[in-house]
Amino acid sequence: MKKILIINGPNLNLLGKREPEVYGTLTFEAYFETLKLKFPEFQLEYYQSNVEGLLIDKIHEVGFSFDGILINAGAYTHTSIAIADAIRAITTPVIEVHISNVFSREEFRHHSFLSAACKACIVGFGLHSYSLALESFR
Ligand code: DQA
Repeated sequence: MKKILIINGPNLNLLGKREPEVYGTLTFEAYFETLKLKFPEFQLEYYQSNVEGLLIDKIHEVGFSFDGILINAGAYTHTSIAIADAIRAITTPVIEVHISNVFSREEFRHHSFLSAACKACIVGFGLHSYSLALESFR
């Protein structure tokens, strides 16, 4: 069974309450339950932290044994060379995921330090972005 970890970065613990017009009204915990039902062939795990170093620790922890990582690094996407280096350091393929279409938003969201280190990016499909990224591991 393929093991896949979904990592959410800062402020994504507030999904459901945070700017619902941008990110929707569903909590990630509720969405994660539907993902598990949709992808019974995967062992899916979920990790969220608001702390950059803890995200890096988690990438190191699973990055040589899991079959895939989906990462939505939130605003660290646009600032973190350290997370990009962590993604480059591991062997597990990583897909960058965003709920909103970052390219239709403020200019500072148009650049990602992570994209070039990732296998692929899925952007702008709402929470469905995670499901589309998981499809690629089927
Ligand atoms: C986000 C987009 C980022 O610009 C923002 O800082 C987030 C969420 C998204 O999923 O759309 O926190 O990664």
